Amino acid sequence: MNRIALSLLAVLLAAGAVAADLTDAQRAAIEERIKPAGESCLEGDNSCGAPAVAAAPSGPRSGEEVYNAACMACHSTGAAGAPKVGDAAAWADRIAKGTDVLYVSGVSGVPGTGMMAKGGCVNCSDEEVHAAVDYMIVNSQ
Ligand code: HEC
Repeated sequence: MNRIALSLLAVLLAAGAVAADLTDAQRAAIEERIKPAGESCLEGDNSCGAPAVAAAPSGPRSGEEVYNAACMACHSTGAAGAPKVGDAAAWADRIAKGTDVLYVSGVSGVPGTGMMAKGGCVNCSDEEVHAAVDYMIVNSQ
């Protein structure tokens, strides 16, 4: 019994010795071979291959940027019955309600329609949605 334990220990020590004998280059080569195929890399982490991500923009996005990112899908096509930007007839009655009313529609949505709160843009601030509404109004008169 003791013998078995001893030889087991010897084997383990030998294995340890082998591992310790690897040069840094060999170790790196092994790590390269066994690394997962699709390494995950967190956004903004510049240490893992992907080009550096542009620094987060300071300040709010412009109305045009927000519109292009979050509103255009419906408001440039009329999808879901959305009033198209540029269609003055479709906007006249809405604009007549006043900008503040349209701000509320933009931020809170229009219940019972495809117009969700903030057009579904969960990371848009109220100010950014207001800017997008301004952009839509200016381009629909
Ligand atoms: C999924 C489609 C969809 C998206 C995305 C969307 N809208 Fe709309 N929007 C609608 C529809 C449909 C209406 C018409 C609702 C109605 O019947 O009054 C509308 C109406 C509006 C109105 C007029 C509301 C009123 O009171 O007359 C504003 C302002 C508006 N959207 C702003 C935005 C803004 C700003 C965004 C982006 C941040 C956006 N929408 C994104 C579908 C969308």
